[in-house]
Amino acid sequence: MDLTSAQVRLEPLADRLEADVMALAHLRDPDRPGWSRQVFGEPYRASRAWVRERMREVGLEVSQDGAGNIVGVLPGGSPGAPPLVTGSHTDTVDGGGRFDGMVGVLGALELVRCLQESNTRLTRDLLVVDFLGEESNDWGLSCLGSRSLAGELTPDHLRRTDTSGTALGDRYGQFGIPPEQAMSADWFRRRRPHAFVELHIEQGPLLENTNAQIGVVTAIAGIQRLLATFTGRSDHAGTRPMDDRADAMVAAARAVLDVQRTGCGAPTHGVATTTSLATGSVSPNVVPAEVEMKTEIRSIDSSWLSLAQQQLVRDIANHAQREGVDVEFEWTNDNEIVQTSTAIQDAIARVAAAAGHSWRAVPSGATHDAVHMARLAPMGMIFVPSRDGRSHCPEEWTDFSDVIAGVQVLGSTLLDLDRANRLSVRE
Ligand code: HGY
Ligand code: MN
Ligand code: MN
Repeated sequence: MDLTSAQVRLEPLADRLEADVMALAHLRDPDRPGWSRQVFGEPYRASRAWVRERMREVGLEVSQDGAGNIVGVLPGGSPGAPPLVTGSHTDTVDGGGRFDGMVGVLGALELVRCLQESNTRLTRDLLVVDFLGEESNDWGLSCLGSRSLAGELTPDHLRRTDTSGTALGDRYGQFGIPPEQAMSADWFRRRRPHAFVELHIEQGPLLENTNAQIGVVTAIAGIQRLLATFTGRSDHAGTRPMDDRADAMVAAARAVLDVQRTGCGAPTHGVATTTSLATGSVSPNVVPAEVEMKTEIRSIDSSWLSLAQQQLVRDIANHAQREGVDVEFEWTNDNEIVQTSTAIQDAIARVAAAAGHSWRAVPSGATHDAVHMARLAPMGMIFVPSRDGRSHCPEEWTDFSDVIAGVQVLGSTLLDLDRANRLSVRE
C-alpha cells in the first residue's frame, strides 16, 4: 500500500543520532584544531569505512561509485522506478565542526532505521549518498563527488596542483580512486533520480533570529573566486622613503578593504570575503614585491554578482596604480546560482506545517552537493538552525531536537515525493 506522510509516524531517536554524530566527530585529525577531517586525509579514509559500516548496519546495500561517493540503497517496491536520493558530505573544513554535512548523512541513516522499524516500504529505491569531498580544498574545488556525478569534473580540474605541487588527479589516485573513473562517474545520467533532497544545517543566523525550526531553501548562492597577484618592487625597508615605494602589501591591504566594502554594499544576499594574503618575501626588512590575495564573492543575485566582479577589478586596479603596483586578476567560477524545485519547496513546507514545525523560506549562502545534483533531478534542501549562526568552526552546534525535526521533515517529504508523478527539474 502506498503510504503518504500523513499515514506514517516516523519516530527518529535523538540519542541514537547523537551517538552517531559524536562517534564520527572523533575520527578527526589530532594535529588540527576543531573536528578536522579534510578530504583525502587519513581521518577521512577511516571515516569512509565507518560510514560504510553504519550504512550496512541499517540494512542498506552499500557500494562506492567511480567518483568515490559512498552509496547506500534501500530497495523500494518498484525497483525500476526513478529513485529518490538524499545525502550530504562527511568531510570538514580545517578546524571545522561536527554538524556541517554530517547531519545530512547520519540523519538519512536515522530515517532509514525509522522506515525499517515502522515497516514502511517506499515505492522507489531510496539512495543515501555520502558525497566525496564537498568542502573547498587546496585545489580550490568544492563538491568533488557530486561534481563528478553531474559530469562536471574535468581534466583541467584534475591538473590543478596544491601548494605542495601535487595534482588533484594524483591525490585521487593516492586515495585509491582512479582519476579517469572519477571523471566518468555519471551513472545517474543512466538512472535519473526522481528527486534529490538534502538535509543540512543553515550555517547562518536567519532561522535562529526568526524562531524558525525548519528552513525551506529557495536558492543556493553562486560563488566566484578571485586570485589577485600584486607586483611591486623590492626595496630596503629601512632606507626607502615612504613616498617612493611600490609596496605590493599596501596595495593588497587596500584591496582587502575594497572587497569588504563591496560585500557590505550588496542589496540582497551578497557577501565578499578575502580568505588569504600570501607574500613570497621571507626577509623581514624588504618591502614586499609580490603578494597573492584569495577572495570569494557569493550571491543568489546574478546581476549583483557580475557587477561586483567588475567593481572590484576597477577599484583594486585604481588603488594598486596609486601605489605604483601592477595587479593581475584570475577569476574562477566555483558554482552557478541554483534555484531549488518549487514543487519540493512546497512539499517541505507542507509537511513541516503539518507536523507543527515553524518554518520559513531561506536562501543558502553556503554551497552544497545539491548544486550539482540539481543538474540531474529536481532538488530541494531542508535547513535546521545553527546556534549563534556559527559554522566552519569548533563551536558549530545544532540542538538534536532540531536535527530530529529535520529528519522527520526529510522523511515525510520523501514519502510524499515517492508517490508523486514525474517532477520537472525546474518545477
Ligand atoms: O563553502 C561552502 O559554502 C560549503 O561549506 N562548502
Ligand atoms: Mn556542508
Ligand atoms: Mn561546509
